[in-house]
Amino acid sequence: MSASVDLRRLTTPQDLFQAAAEEVLRIATDAVAKRGRFTIALSGGSTPKNLYTLIAANASATLPWAQMFFFWGDERHVPPEDADSNYRMAKEALLSKVPIAPGNVFPVPAEMQVAAAAADAYEQTVRKFFGLAPGEFPRFDLILLGMGPDGHTASLFPETAALQEKSRLVVANWVEKLKASRITFTLPVLNAARCVAFLVSGEDKAAVLHEVLEGGAPPEKYPSKLVKPTNGKLIWFVDRAAASQLSTAA
Ligand code: 6PG
Repeated sequence: MSASVDLRRLTTPQDLFQAAAEEVLRIATDAVAKRGRFTIALSGGSTPKNLYTLIAANASATLPWAQMFFFWGDERHVPPEDADSNYRMAKEALLSKVPIAPGNVFPVPAEMQVAAAAADAYEQTVRKFFGLAPGEFPRFDLILLGMGPDGHTASLFPETAALQEKSRLVVANWVEKLKASRITFTLPVLNAARCVAFLVSGEDKAAVLHEVLEGGAPPEKYPSKLVKPTNGKLIWFVDRAAASQLSTAA
């Protein structure tokens, strides 16, 4: 079953964050009711950060924190206290403000000297948590993703090696234009999720959103095009500015 693409157009960025927060609450509550736990992979970026801030402010009393387990879809190759750390951003915006136990939070060990070793270690953490057999992929209840103006998502940047990875869960990915390594979930992990939700806001994303949702360019040039959950939902939360170049722009 291919992913059902669910394009949710919101007017303002705040409306987008509110709609996404409501979806997180719905999915978390449903997952805990059905399976006793909710597994989520967070994204870096300013758009996801706004969502985390809203959840911390509004949902700290309504979410089943003891049954919620936090991972990261990608991380910069920096220690957790670094200003660029996605873990630090999520901790400051959300995790430090809600009643979640440290044992429910699984940061990427990005302080490790070698990015590939950090990726290997994180892969083992994910395999152990989900009890995966060789060749199996984790099925996250929700993976949150942002999208860069170049169409990258997580740390899957255009024409980088990680796009070709079909068996590993987590890899180190050298990003030439950043002159830096990133640590990222691979596409098979993103596409194994029950639900993937993109958060795309702002005029600077309008051209790439059109390319990703409606353009015919090779997907390697716009990696977000490669995110198609094989048995799950794909939701795009977009605001009016980001949707302004879509052919059916409202
Ligand atoms: C990261 C993110 C990255 C981010 C996009 C969008 O580590 O930076 O994983 O994929 O989500 O670059 O970021 P903005 O929402 O800030 O544009």
